[in-house]
Amino acid sequence: MADARPFHWEYVPEPVQQEFFRIEGGKPLSGSVAISGAKNAALKMLAAATLTGERCRFTNVPEIEDVRVMAQTLTELGVVVERPEPNVYEVAAGDVEWQFVPLEAAAKMRASFMLLGPLLARCGRVIISNPGGDRIGRRPVNLHVEAMRTLGAQIEYRNGYYFATAPGRLRGAEIRFPFVSVMGTENAMLAATLADGHTVLRPAAQEPEVDDLIACLQKMGAEIERTYPDTIEIEGKKRLRGAEHRVIPDRIEAGTFVVAGAVSGGKITLTGAPCEHLGAFIETMGRAGVGVSCGKDTIEVDGSALEAEGFTAVDIETAAYPGLATDLQPPTSVLLTQAKGTSHVRETIFEDRLEWMSELRRMGASIDIKDSHTAVIKGRQRLHGADVEIGDLRAGASLILAALAATGTTTIHGAHHVHRGYENIEGKFLDLGARIERLAEGNDASSS
Ligand code: EPZ
Repeated sequence: MADARPFHWEYVPEPVQQEFFRIEGGKPLSGSVAISGAKNAALKMLAAATLTGERCRFTNVPEIEDVRVMAQTLTELGVVVERPEPNVYEVAAGDVEWQFVPLEAAAKMRASFMLLGPLLARCGRVIISNPGGDRIGRRPVNLHVEAMRTLGAQIEYRNGYYFATAPGRLRGAEIRFPFVSVMGTENAMLAATLADGHTVLRPAAQEPEVDDLIACLQKMGAEIERTYPDTIEIEGKKRLRGAEHRVIPDRIEAGTFVVAGAVSGGKITLTGAPCEHLGAFIETMGRAGVGVSCGKDTIEVDGSALEAEGFTAVDIETAAYPGLATDLQPPTSVLLTQAKGTSHVRETIFEDRLEWMSELRRMGASIDIKDSHTAVIKGRQRLHGADVEIGDLRAGASLILAALAATGTTTIHGAHHVHRGYENIEGKFLDLGARIERLAEGNDASSS
């Protein structure tokens, strides 16, 4: 700790916004890749650290742009964030000087809204920007706001900001969600850990990242547990303490690399990979004919069927955990372009998450987007290089997968979307033998 310095000065470079990937496809991947910590767990833990004035230490935090934005946002609130070594973040929220989360933070990252619950519960007030929609859907926050109101908060919405106060303490309550929301569940959990009395959340999201957040909160002294698969109960405490927690591995990054091994026709090993969190996805891969075998914390991927008997078309439908993750729909759709026959894709979580497929079509995929929730993919179509544009994080990673499977060179603009959620993605692909470069727009010199 002695040599730890404030987070944002020298350790993490400011992101270079205007970059593109150039990928020459058609080469089977081989070797092994280490899976990083889960973005969607780490971001919530950084927010949870504001529930206490004591220092929290998180390890296995992915070095990604979203983490940098969350750390920066906390710093601007007066919270001390340090990064003593790569992948380790320490947060000390002794003084939260400003209970104000500005539009800039919300515009960069929706997860900034995760500060609503903890700041309201600990400081009794917060002004926080509406994060709004993004390229995958409308993404309202009404469930978060209603959950806080049920806990006794008063919340007004003016000029794009929620003005929230909790006169006295928040009060434990029964919170009934109309449907499952991951961050809605998590925001309510964080607020309820410091509320007066007992809170029941139902139906609560069952994603592994939610359970990792529960484990972290328990170490901080919170009385919180999942009492039924869809129910979380919390007995509020007056204060929480500092804790140390290791973030679970990123199942979405793991799924992305599984598809990379498969569509390149390669053989790769994922290390530190959470097979137990990928049930529905691995089952889908099995039905499609991808060889996937799980070890203790490894996943072996064998894509040799691609050029032998071929992959098989399958119908998929996304769902809340333990169903097939919506975040793995785009990678899985790339795989289905390489499977023989017709596959139906049903996206049930977000209304705009099939839009990116028009870019995939430019690479030669045969995809009929029936409506905002349904697409039909006809395979196998040989993909070819093209000039494409990334609209969001998972679509970006999936265009990289398509480029690896394609013949020729693909240029993928908007690389910054991918850096929001994947640590060192081009480095990891280079180690697997991919021909990938990250270049500055308007400049052909390699920056990777
Ligand atoms: C989380 O978003 C993840 N983000 C998403 O990951 C993921 O796709 C999503 O869960 C579903 O698994 C983080 O954890 C930071 P929801 P979240 O609330 O919590 C609607 C990625 O690529 N809804 O479970 O925002 C909503 O519009 C990202 O890593 C409301 O109507 O998702 C959606 O249709 C993208 N009102 C559905 O619920 C609300 O107040 C489920 O969304 C909240 C949500």
